[in-house]
Amino acid sequence: MPMVIAIDGPAASGKGTLARRLAAHYGLPHLDTGLLYRGVALTLLDAGFALEDEAAAARAAAALIADRLADPRLRERAMGEAASRISSVPAVRAALLTWQQSFAGNSLGAVLDGRDIGTVVCPDARVKLFVTATPEERARRRHRELSARGEETTLAAILADIRARDARDAGRSAAPLKIAEDAHVLDTTDMDADAAFAAAKAVADRARSH
Ligand code: DC
Repeated sequence: MPMVIAIDGPAASGKGTLARRLAAHYGLPHLDTGLLYRGVALTLLDAGFALEDEAAAARAAAALIADRLADPRLRERAMGEAASRISSVPAVRAALLTWQQSFAGNSLGAVLDGRDIGTVVCPDARVKLFVTATPEERARRRHRELSARGEETTLAAILADIRARDARDAGRSAAPLKIAEDAHVLDTTDMDADAAFAAAKAVADRARSH
């Protein structure tokens, strides 16, 4: 039976690292669904449209091609912000839903990480994790990551971003960030990446043996 692992959580919670490690461990394909929203935002901005142009955003989502997802600009701080904005447009979400569900539906199974994987994209996933950490700890992690890539920012600016993104991602009416009823919550505030992986693997192994 294919194993789908759904990983949700707020910005900079460590869910991406965890998803990559679980995918490598179980030999499953991995989709970072945040990249799809970032890809739509980038397509829109490159074509000269405003982020508020919902019709253009819906067209960009319907026409999004995989090649776009390798663009290094997608990882920039501003693109996360832009992605969060366009992700509240229902037609954008609908177009990306098909993409995500066909990825999850392959015969092996898959690991997907995002905001609404366990609640909307893969409600029947065998394993659901909700990865979180305090806003301060997430800001510290994101700051380290961006500094290592040479992006100059302050910790205070990132913390403000994270709080704004949390509010927007959880407050929107279309598929808001929330904990699926059957998700295991993993608070990684006091865990390093190895400890988080061990905890997540224990949850997945338990689910697999049932
Ligand atoms: O995970 P990320 O920071 O790359 O995501 C960028 C934005 O995309 C996030 O703030 C909200 C949106 N997003 C979403 O609405 N649903 C998802 N499954 C993944 C991301």
